[in-house]
Amino acid sequence: MIITIAHSKGGVGKSLLAWHLAIGMKVPIIDLDFQRTLVYTNNLRKANGRQELKIIQPESPDDFIEFLDNWPEDKNIIIDVGGFDSNLNRVALYISDLIITPAVDRVTEMAGLYKFHQIIDELSEKMQTNITASILLNDVSPSAKDFSIMEDLVENLKHFELMDTIVSHRADFYKSMEEGKGVTEIKKSKAKKEIKELIKEIKSKDK
Ligand SMILES: Nc1ncnc2c1ncn2[C@@H]1O[C@H](COP(=O)(O)OP(=O)(O)OP(=O)(O)O)[C@@H](O)[C@H]1O
Ligand SMILES: [Mg+2]
Repeated sequence: MIITIAHSKGGVGKSLLAWHLAIGMKVPIIDLDFQRTLVYTNNLRKANGRQELKIIQPESPDDFIEFLDNWPEDKNIIIDVGGFDSNLNRVALYISDLIITPAVDRVTEMAGLYKFHQIIDELSEKMQTNITASILLNDVSPSAKDFSIMEDLVENLKHFELMDTIVSHRADFYKSMEEGKGVTEIKKSKAKKEIKELIKEIKSKDK
C-alpha cells in the first residue's frame, strides 16, 4: 500500500506524521519535500546510534514513477509530500492507495483545505477517477472534544472523509524526533498510543 501524507498547505504536520508512522510501521519513506526535513532527522537518528530509516529521494518525476511502478503491492511505503502544489506532488496523489491529510481544526485552516480539495477535484477530473483524501485531525488541543467545524466541512466536500483517529498536540512528537526516535520507540506515552491507533486504522483500510 502506498500511503501519501499530503496537504498543499505547509506546516500541518506531514513530515512529523510520516516520520512516526514509518518508524512505527517499519517501512521506508519517499521524501518529495525539498526541505529534506526527514533526512535531517534521520542524521540525528544515526548520530544516536540507531538504525537509519530508509529514505528514498527521487531525482525526477520519471524516476519517482518508475520506482513506484516496481514497488510490490503487498509492501507498505510512506510518501512525505512538500506543502505546495506541483506535478510531482500530483503524481503522488494519483498513484497512492491512501492519502492522509493532516488538518488542524481551526476556522483559519478552512481556506487551505478548500484549496487542497480543489486540487484533488481537478486531478480526479483530469485522470477520470475519484480521488479521496482521509482528513486526519492533527495537533489538536488534548482537551478538545468538539470537532464539529471539521466534521461539517468534510461532510460537504466530496473528495474528503474524516479519519476516526485524532492526533493531539504533544511534546513527545517533536522531542523524540530531536533524538532521531519515533514515539513508538519511547516509553509509554499518549503520543505513542495515538500513533499506534493511527497505524491500526491505516491497516484497516488496506483492502
Ligand atoms: N501533533 C503534533 N504535536 C506537536 N507538534 C506538532 C504536531 N504536529 C505538527 N507539529 C509541529 O508543527 C510544525 C510543522 O510540522 P511539519 O514540519 O511536520 O509540517 P509539514 O506539513 O511537513 O510542513 P511542510 O509543508 O513545510 O513540509 C513542526 O514544528 C512540528 O513539530
Ligand atoms: Mg514537511
